[in-house]
Amino acid sequence: MDLLEYQARELFERFDVPVLAGRTATTPEEARQAYAELGSGTVVVKAQVRTGGRGKAGGVKLARSEEAAVETAAEILDLEIKGHPVDVVMLSPGADIAEEFYFSILLDRATRGYLAMCSVEGGVDIETLAEERPEALVKIPLDVDEGITADVARRIVTEAGFPEDIHAPVGQVLQKLWTVFKESDATLVEVNPLVKTADGTILALDGKVTLDENADFRHEEWQQYDETTGQVDLERQARELDLNYVKLDGSVGVIGNGAGLVMSTLDVVAAAGEEMPGKPKPANFLDIGGGASAQVMANGLRIIMSDPQVKSVFVNVFGGITACSDVANGIVNALEMLGDEARLPIVVRLDGNSVDVGKAILAEADHPLITVKNTMDEAARTAAKLAAEGKN
Ligand SMILES: Nc1ncnc2c1ncn2[C@@H]1O[C@H](COP(=O)(O)OP(=O)(O)OP(=O)(O)O)[C@@H](O)[C@H]1O
Ligand SMILES: [Mg+2]
Repeated sequence: MDLLEYQARELFERFDVPVLAGRTATTPEEARQAYAELGSGTVVVKAQVRTGGRGKAGGVKLARSEEAAVETAAEILDLEIKGHPVDVVMLSPGADIAEEFYFSILLDRATRGYLAMCSVEGGVDIETLAEERPEALVKIPLDVDEGITADVARRIVTEAGFPEDIHAPVGQVLQKLWTVFKESDATLVEVNPLVKTADGTILALDGKVTLDENADFRHEEWQQYDETTGQVDLERQARELDLNYVKLDGSVGVIGNGAGLVMSTLDVVAAAGEEMPGKPKPANFLDIGGGASAQVMANGLRIIMSDPQVKSVFVNVFGGITACSDVANGIVNALEMLGDEARLPIVVRLDGNSVDVGKAILAEADHPLITVKNTMDEAARTAAKLAAEGKN
């Protein structure tokens, strides 16, 4: 889970990492209020989006007065940065920057360990620096238990070539950032730029934090991030319902039992879609596993149908331990439970245990939204066609 910059700033503040004040705004009027709270003078207005390179895209701008701040906030709130609409901006006091550095701690999958990366050439696009002048970016493996002690911090700033007079204050900030990383169960804490201001203060001016969702059971406080994650929200709702759901980008909702069957269903739908106008693709992965009760089916259909991109649903079930008759009853009862919420055509393919009884149940129900097809290919083509036509 990636935090927005203002959330990372709050987290840093909680662990005593030096940051500037920050106020968020979702409208120009809120930006006026934010400016007033910050005081006066120059502020920086920053787009809060989960993508890098905001500055270059016009998402980070200085404003020298209240009016300018309101106007700049309005402009930035109107932007879309690399496909991310800007819903929130953060205002911070303008800093008098003398030097910009780079620092990050990450989980390095290649070495299966933690790594600190640091450079005295910060502020820039770090991927470019790593490629063009790798020697300017030092990489220091961290011991999990030890983390960044005063000694380790000294080694990092020395190897990265920081001026001697700021070894101590920068080192202290690095130690605090390790505490943020460790205590927050993060897989990434990146500060770009870490700056020295004209009066010699060290500040984290930008923060990027990724939290390890496997640790969410011990972080009640992460709930505050829920409503800000946008599209991934459906995945969160699905998880609360114990559904194994992954949001994809297409328009054909997919429900199946067994991860293998669902994976091949995605392939078959994508292949069928290739031949249709607009090339509809699968909208999600959803494995309802064994025991397709009406409740599980209803939950699955509800999640899929609340994705505004979805235009049709393909239910592909192979009856094994769970008989097709149970699944058929599950679908019929789920549609009853959903009522008007069920708004999209559903193509069903059943095979395996008790398939004939299952089909008879669906025929008997004669539900206007349900189409039954005998083979997986046929069903995939039908679902893709319905999505292409956008019939709903
Ligand atoms: N409070 C501030 N005062 C003055 N200048 C700032 C302030 N905050 C940021 N800047 C300047 O703007 C530049 C870009 O800011 P920032 O690092 O937050 O965004 P970015 O790097 O463009 O975005 P991303 O990190 O998402 O790629 C900084 O390198 C710094 O020079
Ligand atoms: Mg940055």
